[in-house]
Amino acid sequence: MAAPLKVAKIVNNGKTVRTAEPEEVEQLEADQHPEETHSYVPHPDYGLKYVSRKVDGVDDFDILQQCMDNHWNLLMRGPTGSGKTMFPMAWAAIKGLNFYAVPCDVSMEPGALTGSYTPDGEGGFRWQDGPVTELARNGGVLCISEANFMSPKIAASLFPLLDHRRELPLIRHHGEIIKAHEKLLIVTDYNPGYRGTMQINEAFLNRFPVKVQWDYNADVENKLVKSMELLKLAREIRKSTGIKTPVSTNSMMEFIRISVLLGYNFAANNFVNMFETNERQSVSQILDVHSTLLKGEIAQIAKKELGPKADTVVPDRDFDPAWKMKGLTADDFEFEDD
Ligand SMILES: Nc1ncnc2c1ncn2[C@@H]1O[C@H](COP(=O)(O)OP(=O)(O)OP(=O)(O)O)[C@@H](O)[C@H]1O
Ligand SMILES: [Mg+2]
Repeated sequence: MAAPLKVAKIVNNGKTVRTAEPEEVEQLEADQHPEETHSYVPHPDYGLKYVSRKVDGVDDFDILQQCMDNHWNLLMRGPTGSGKTMFPMAWAAIKGLNFYAVPCDVSMEPGALTGSYTPDGEGGFRWQDGPVTELARNGGVLCISEANFMSPKIAASLFPLLDHRRELPLIRHHGEIIKAHEKLLIVTDYNPGYRGTMQINEAFLNRFPVKVQWDYNADVENKLVKSMELLKLAREIRKSTGIKTPVSTNSMMEFIRISVLLGYNFAANNFVNMFETNERQSVSQILDVHSTLLKGEIAQIAKKELGPKADTVVPDRDFDPAWKMKGLTADDFEFEDD
């Protein structure tokens, strides 16, 4: 016997519009969270922790405000961990605006951003806005992250929203055309030339009147990274022609945090492991040159952060296996052959 034909109603505002196409039914069944809303106002902590910068003399938040007021899309180009995503997120947190970061990936279908039909629990289906549609209707900050992982199909589906039309056509939703909300800000970021990325389409780039280079920023890092020596070390590595792996702002913050909690040796090895195998020797050599001063600075930070507990976290102690700590030696163990 042939498999029963899947027939489902498409319901909008309580009215049956038409029966669903089989591919729509499949998509509906795959969707487990029909009631989900996508955007959210980021936690105030993002606003508090974010360190602002000036871009060519202009306060970074002023750029976002002007972009929102004038309907200019903003494109940010810069290395990993330079704060490209945190920046609009922090602003949204401070302004109480809804925010959504689209994680671009080549296999994403436009419906994941614009919307799809989902089961209504009564045998029918209803339209569920995707994150881009939700923000286009209600306003907020739409961040299209790592745009150079975006498929041309997705880019093309966003063209009318990104250009002077500021419209989002929902072909699958009986051709509804959404006029973008007055207070919709669209920000895109990407890391140029990283592995697995694609060339960004010129027509896409052309839809961003404001383009800023978002590199690691010395003023920002001086505030976020509490060790001068680590900053010096990172800048030396970044300048070194033979080392291509980026030293992100957050990797320095993590170096200090990990040192404080797990000891300097662990953090130093962890830092070196971030680099490509062929770069590690050079990184270790640079690290060795800075290690004495770096350990001292980290010991000071640990004292401040941990208070009396800091004595138990000696930054340069070796990590002994548990059995060595118990006073046992390798001779106390019998090892079985493989
Ligand atoms: N200006 C800043 N203020 C506070 N923290 C920052 C700042 N810049 C970077 N950071 C730290 O770096 C982390 C990474 O930032 P973010 O995710 O915004 O980088 P990104 O440029 O978007 O990186 P990627 O290109 O990999 O997505 C943040 O979570 C934060 O810890
Ligand atoms: Mg990012």
